[in-house]
Amino acid sequence: MSNTNTQIKLAARPTGMPGPECWKTEESQIPSPGEGEVLLQILQISLDPAMRGWMNEARSYVPPVRINQVMRALTLSRVMESNSPDLKPGDLVTGTQGVQQYAVAKPEDLTKVDATLADPSRFLSVLGMTGMTAYFGLFDVGQPKSDDIVVVSGAAGAVGQIVGQLAKIHGCKTIGIAGGEEKCKFLTDEIGYDHAIDYKSQNVAKEIKRHAKKGLDVYFDNVGGEILEAALFNLNRGARIVICGAISQYNTTDVQGPRNYLSLLVNRARMEGMVVFDYANRFGEAVPKMAGWLKEGKLKSKEDIVRGQVTDFSETFLKLFSGENQGKLILEIESV
Ligand SMILES: NC(=O)c1ccc[n+]([C@@H]2O[C@H](COP(=O)([O-])OP(=O)(O)OC[C@H]3O[C@@H](n4cnc5c(N)ncnc54)[C@H](OP(=O)(O)O)[C@@H]3O)[C@@H](O)[C@H]2O)c1
Repeated sequence: MSNTNTQIKLAARPTGMPGPECWKTEESQIPSPGEGEVLLQILQISLDPAMRGWMNEARSYVPPVRINQVMRALTLSRVMESNSPDLKPGDLVTGTQGVQQYAVAKPEDLTKVDATLADPSRFLSVLGMTGMTAYFGLFDVGQPKSDDIVVVSGAAGAVGQIVGQLAKIHGCKTIGIAGGEEKCKFLTDEIGYDHAIDYKSQNVAKEIKRHAKKGLDVYFDNVGGEILEAALFNLNRGARIVICGAISQYNTTDVQGPRNYLSLLVNRARMEGMVVFDYANRFGEAVPKMAGWLKEGKLKSKEDIVRGQVTDFSETFLKLFSGENQGKLILEIESV
């Protein structure tokens, strides 16, 4: 182990797509844990579209990352040294340690990984924030009934692939929307969506109508923009729209609102935003269930693990916005 800690810090706030000018790499001394603290070696960094929002100077559900601050990111780490009775060297934990190689943390800010439940990387995907977003967004906000038609955008992505499978387990008919033939094939052939719509080559509104004649009952939105509008054109009476994210809008300065929002009135429908962190005290309800479904083979999770160094962060992060990622995007830090 070298004695330096490579860190990626926010250098400037982006306008549009975050380019290399937004980041700076710094080397510092590996920190020493104080009383009650642990030293962590970061093994995997979760790359999430939300990180784009955290770079903006705007009011949100968490404060913006400050200029010169280590970029915030969810992580999977190994305990290297411990001054706490709660964790011992070798334990695996998740937390928000950011884009760097090493960090000091307090056990109360970490979640210990139970490797008997699943492979550790699953705790950044299906058993972590991503899976919890799918679970609580679908069941608490979407409130599907069995036989409902559930439509999901960003369906081949980290959250979307889980939402479709949970809806299927619940007895719903599922329609996934994704970009390109390969991703659509993945939706129907590998993770069991009933139908897939390729938004890059098909008319989304017409395709939803074809598969949901009376309209959709739940729309789980990960992308916003024109795809949200296409869903609004196809609501069944009493439909629920879960606003989970709007990745099509994150890098634009000209945000599009839904033009046809009065469809909510006509169809007595509702549209509601959700933030996964609001459900933190209920994760314990969902994790054992999801782990059980994983073990039984009822639930699959595809992770896109890129192996490299923390300095590969900025380039790897952009895969989320070009659609190059296939499932949950994770940067795994190779030891040097
Ligand atoms: N509310 C919450 O608490 C919460 C928590 C976690 C995530 N989220 C949100 O959930 C959404 C999905 O996140 P994720 O982690 O699962 O990411 P992801 O879906 O694994 O990756 C992003 C995907 O978005 C699609 N995309 C990118 N640009 C697009 C565009 N202009 N139009 C349509 N699709 C586009 C791409 O798929 P295609 O190849 O199919 O285009 C890309 O692979 C994001 O909006 C994120 O912010 C919200």
